[in-house]
Parts: sequence; C-alpha cells; structure tokens
Amino acid sequence: MSYNIAIDGPAGAGKSTIAKLIAKKKGFVYVDTGAMYRAMALYFLEEGISADDSEKIAAATDHVDVTISYENGEQVVWLNGRNVNGLIRTEEVSKMASKSSTNGAVRKKLVELQQALAQKESVVMDGRDIGTCVLPNADVKVYLTASSHVRAVRRYEELKAKGEACDLDVIEKDIIDRDYQDMHRELSPLKQADDAVLLDSSDMTIEQVADAIIKMCD
Ligand code: DC
Repeated sequence: MSYNIAIDGPAGAGKSTIAKLIAKKKGFVYVDTGAMYRAMALYFLEEGISADDSEKIAAATDHVDVTISYENGEQVVWLNGRNVNGLIRTEEVSKMASKSSTNGAVRKKLVELQQALAQKESVVMDGRDIGTCVLPNADVKVYLTASSHVRAVRRYEELKAKGEACDLDVIEKDIIDRDYQDMHRELSPLKQADDAVLLDSSDMTIEQVADAIIKMCD
C-alpha cells in the first residue's frame, strides 16, 4: 500500500521546499501538482488562448499531454513531449495557471494523473486541493500557510538572489491577488480540509516544519 502525505496552502508558504525535504527523508516521491497546472498554462499562452476563453481552454486540453518523470530525484514536467521545467516559473505563467486552473476540463485531466501517481507510489504531494479533492483519504494532511508579508519577503529574496529586479509591494499585491483567485474559484477552491493540520510557517524554519510533519506520520 502506498503512503500519501498531502500538503496544501497558498503560494509562497514553503510547500515545495518542505515537501521535497520530507520526500527525501522518507524516501517518498515528491509530486509538485502546481507544475502540472503551470505546464498546461504555458500551452495556452503559447497557443495565444485567452485566460477568459473557457470554451477554448476546455477544447485545448484534448491536445495537451502533461506527464512527469524524475531525473536525479527532481521532477521533470513534459508538455507534449517537451521538457518545460525551465519555462514555467515566470510571473506570466503563474498568473495564467491561477486563471486556467479554474477550468473543469483542466482540473479533471490533472487530478486523474495525480491520483494515479499516488496510488502507485508513496508520495508527498503539494497543491491547493490535495487534501480536499485529489487524495481525500491521505494518511497525513497539512494546510501550510504564512502571512502574505512573510511570503512576499521570501519571494523578494529569491528574485534578488537571482539578480532579478523586483518590488516588494508589487510582489505582495500579486500574492494577495493570487490567493484571492485560488480561494474563491468555484471548483476545488484552496481551503483547509476538515481533517488537515494547520501549520503557520511565518516563524518556523524549514527544518522545524518538515520535522513537525514527519512526526505526524508516526
Ligand atoms: O503551486 P503553484 O504556485 O506552482 O501553482 C500554480 C497555480 O496552479 C496556482 O495559482 C493554482 C493552481 N493549482 C491548483 O489549482 N491546484 C493545485 N493542486 C496546484 C496548483
């Protein structure tokens, strides 16, 4: 039987860093579901499909094949046979992913893929609807959050380290907008599952959060 850990929460709460660390410590597979929504979003952007054209987006999902594989423990996302890892972390893709992930056809396709993965392997899966929709029977469910200011500062430091120009106020506003969009959509909105444990990482280190989650597996 596979063992499933579900981690949900808003953008920038530290989900992926923590999920990766737990996966390494437990010898599980890390599944980044946001990357799948991002790959789909990249396709819509490349095809010039508007985020507001839900019919075109739904029809286009028939032509999109998103799969994942693992290279040296890192998840690689393939869009129609092309490795798109290097293309899906831009602000443009973030915004499109937040919008196109409201589409039922997009969600159905990706949720099926995620459920199949979790059935086959023990996984640490992060996203927005993992505990509520994708893996309702997960062994451990965590809702990981942090204040929007702390999340914006983390993102700001990340971009600054890469030498990219950025403005803290703009980043915080984008984070608040994206939270609103993710929490208020009709389908599978971001929310804490009734049986999920709430963790606020604002004043915790990565190690402290990972250790707290690993303890829940005992
Ligand atoms: O986790 P992320 O920032 O890479 O996710 C990008 C977008 O994808 C996010 O704004 C909402 C959407 N998403 C989703 O709807 N459901 C998931 N399980 C994961 C991401």
